[in-house]
Amino acid sequence: MEVIIRPDPTAATQLAAALIADQVRTKPSSVLGLATGATMERLYAELVRQHKEEGLDFSLVRTFNLDEYVGLSPEDPHSYRHYMNAQLFNHINIDIRNTHLPHGQAEDLKLECRRYEALMQACGGVDLQLLGIGRSGHIGFNEPLSALQSRTRDKALTPTTIEQNEGYFPTPADMPRCGITMGVGTILEARDIVMLVTGSSKAAVIAKAVEGPITSMISASALQMHPHCRTIVDEAAATDLTQQEYYHWIFENEDEWRAYR
Ligand code: F6R
Repeated sequence: MEVIIRPDPTAATQLAAALIADQVRTKPSSVLGLATGATMERLYAELVRQHKEEGLDFSLVRTFNLDEYVGLSPEDPHSYRHYMNAQLFNHINIDIRNTHLPHGQAEDLKLECRRYEALMQACGGVDLQLLGIGRSGHIGFNEPLSALQSRTRDKALTPTTIEQNEGYFPTPADMPRCGITMGVGTILEARDIVMLVTGSSKAAVIAKAVEGPITSMISASALQMHPHCRTIVDEAAATDLTQQEYYHWIFENEDEWRAYR
């Protein structure tokens, strides 16, 4: 894993967006794995800007989102489908038929999870997976004790995640208690991973994920096993990392990052 520290949320977000934009330019028919949440709102706004002002072309891109709430229809304003349309898809030239999320209202959730995995494979697998991290250490909705080889499945949400996300719902009771999520094993099959983490509330958990032992208690720690995972953090999220000097050196000196400095 590489960890890159940028001075503030804007710089961190711009770097993550630049990596995604370069992926799309290099391979216009890229399969992108996408995430939702507050962290990604700024990133999607930057991709929309690059589309509108710089002609970043999404016409051949295909996308698979990490997760969706069980029980919510795509039209529900709290669904991740609604979020994705509102934050990104409605503002770029992507073919909406090439954008995929699990169906939260599927009658047979197990079947829906198998369908989703099969569709991902039929599209050739994910070229670049975008990730955030939850306060529980989750990626997608892979809550603590998610098997590190888990596949797409329905998963009960922890109190920590409910507390993190219930503010988006009219009352806490309205928030679904389960999600469908790509598994940790599914995520690890992406050819390339970019994780974006900002803010002091994530400092403790990202330090555990990046520098702590690999454990199903922090599902993001499984990313240490991925051969090409880049974690972009801002200074506030980097506070608890012990190797900050080294991470700064990498960004300032490694050729790979020259174009982004
Ligand atoms: C959502 C997802 C989650 C979020 C995480 C951080 O699709 O994958 O793992 O990335 O919960 O959410 P924010 O950015 O709201 O702190």
